[in-house]
Amino acid sequence: MGPGMSSDTKTPKSTDGYSSVPIASFVEEFTASVGCDKRLYKYDIMGSIAHVRMLAHVGIISQDECHAIVSGLQAIQDQIEDDKFTWSNVLEDVHMNIESQLIKRIGTVGKKVHTGRSRNDQVATDMRLYLRDEIDTISSMLCRVMTALLAVAEREADTIMPGFTHLQTAQPITFGHHMMAWFEMLFRDGERLLECRRRVNVMPLGAAALAGTSYPIDRAYTARLLGFDAIAENSLDAVSDRDFAIEFSACAALIMMHLSRFSEELVLWASQQFDFIQLDSVFCTGSSIMPQKKNPDVPELVRGKAGRVYGHLMALLTLMKGQALAYNKDNQEDKEPLFDTADTVKACLRVYAEMVQALELNRDRLREGASRGLATATELADYLVRKGVPFRDAHTIVGDVVRYALDEGKDLLELPLDQLRQFSKQIEQDVYRILSLEGAVAAHDHLGGTAPSQVRAAIARAHKRLEALGHGQPHRPA
Ligand code: ARG
Repeated sequence: MGPGMSSDTKTPKSTDGYSSVPIASFVEEFTASVGCDKRLYKYDIMGSIAHVRMLAHVGIISQDECHAIVSGLQAIQDQIEDDKFTWSNVLEDVHMNIESQLIKRIGTVGKKVHTGRSRNDQVATDMRLYLRDEIDTISSMLCRVMTALLAVAEREADTIMPGFTHLQTAQPITFGHHMMAWFEMLFRDGERLLECRRRVNVMPLGAAALAGTSYPIDRAYTARLLGFDAIAENSLDAVSDRDFAIEFSACAALIMMHLSRFSEELVLWASQQFDFIQLDSVFCTGSSIMPQKKNPDVPELVRGKAGRVYGHLMALLTLMKGQALAYNKDNQEDKEPLFDTADTVKACLRVYAEMVQALELNRDRLREGASRGLATATELADYLVRKGVPFRDAHTIVGDVVRYALDEGKDLLELPLDQLRQFSKQIEQDVYRILSLEGAVAAHDHLGGTAPSQVRAAIARAHKRLEALGHGQPHRPA
C-alpha cells in the first residue's frame, strides 16, 4: 500500500474488499449509516483537517497538498451547510461521502486525505468530538436549570410546605429547601458530566484500523489541533472502545431519572388534590373532551422520555458486551442511541429551565398542607428531650398526645397548655414557639437544615459552587 491509499478495507465505491462483485442494493441499504451519521459531518471535516495538517507537518504530504485538501474540505462543509450536498447510500457513511466528494472536487490529491488513517479511528474521533460538544451544551443547560432553581429557592426561602416521607406529611419544611434538594441532584449530574468529559476528550486518531500505522505520524500535534486533552494509549482499545458513549449515557440516564422524579412531583403538586402549584399554561394542554382540563403534559412527557434514555443505555451496553477486539461493524449501531440520548436530554433541560422559572405557588395551600397531619409532633418530642426527657420516653409521650389530638380533631398548636401538661409536666408555655410551623422550621438550624437562614446560606454557597462548576472545577464546600 502506497502513500495516499486507505488502510481501511473499504474504498469509496460499491465493491467490497478483494471481491469485485457489486454489493446487492439491499445489502448496501442494510449496511449504510449515512442517513444517521451525516450529522457528524462537522466533526469529520474537523478531524480530517487536523489529520492532514499533521501529515504536512511531518512531511508525509506537501504543504501545497495539505492546503488543497483543507480548502476542499472547507468548501464541502459550506456545501453541506447550504444544503447542496447530495448524500449517497452507495457511499455508505459520512466519511466516504465526504472523501469521495473531496476527490471529485480537487482530484487525485484528495486521495491522500486517508493516508495513515482508517475509518475506524476516524469514526471514533468524530464521535468523541461530537460528544464533547454535546456535553458542553448539556452542562450549560443544566446550569440554567440550576440557576432557575436558585432563584425560586431564594424567593421561597421562608415559604412553608409539608415535607413528606412515604408521601405522608412528615415535618414542615420550606419550599426553598425543597428546591435546593433538586439543585443538589442536578449539581451532581453536572459534576458527573465534567468527569465524563475528561474520558471523552481522548484522541483515537493514529490508531488507524487497529494496529497504528507505519508512517511517522505526530499524534500529539493532531491532538493539540483538535483540543484533545490526551491521546489514546493503545491502538486496539482506541478503535474499539465505546465506554465513553456508555458513560455519557449513564450520566444522561441519571439526569433523566432526576428530571422524571421532579416531574412526578410537579404533576402531583399541580393536581386538584394537592393544589400546591400552578404550572404555566404553556406547559399544559387541554383535553379534547373535558373542557375544564389543564393537563401537565410537559412534565409528564419528560417523565416518559426517561424511559427511552434508559433504553439507549441498555442498548449500548448490550452492543458492546460480545465484541472481540478490535473494531467490529456492530459499533456503527452506537450512533442512533447516542444521538437520541443527547437530543432528548437537551430538549428536556430546555423546557425545564423555563418551567422552573415560571413556577407559581399556592402558598396558602402549601402552608395548610404543612399544618395538617400533626407535622410538628417530632418538634414536641425534641422539645421534651431538651427539657431532660430521654428521647424514647419523649417519643411515647408524644404518641399519646398525637392520639389525643386526633380524637379531638385538633392540631397540636390548638391544644391548651393544661391539656398538654397532662401528658408531661415538662411542657411549658414556650412549647407553642416550636409547635408553630415557622418555629419548627427555624429550629432546624444547621448546615443542610430547612431553617430559612440555612437555606439562604446554602443558596449563597450554591452560587459559588455553580460558578466553579462552570469553570470546569467540581467544587464541594468544606
Ligand atoms: N460507519 C462506520 C461506523 O460507524 C465507520 C467505520 C467503518 N469501518 C469499517 N472497517 N467498516 O462504525
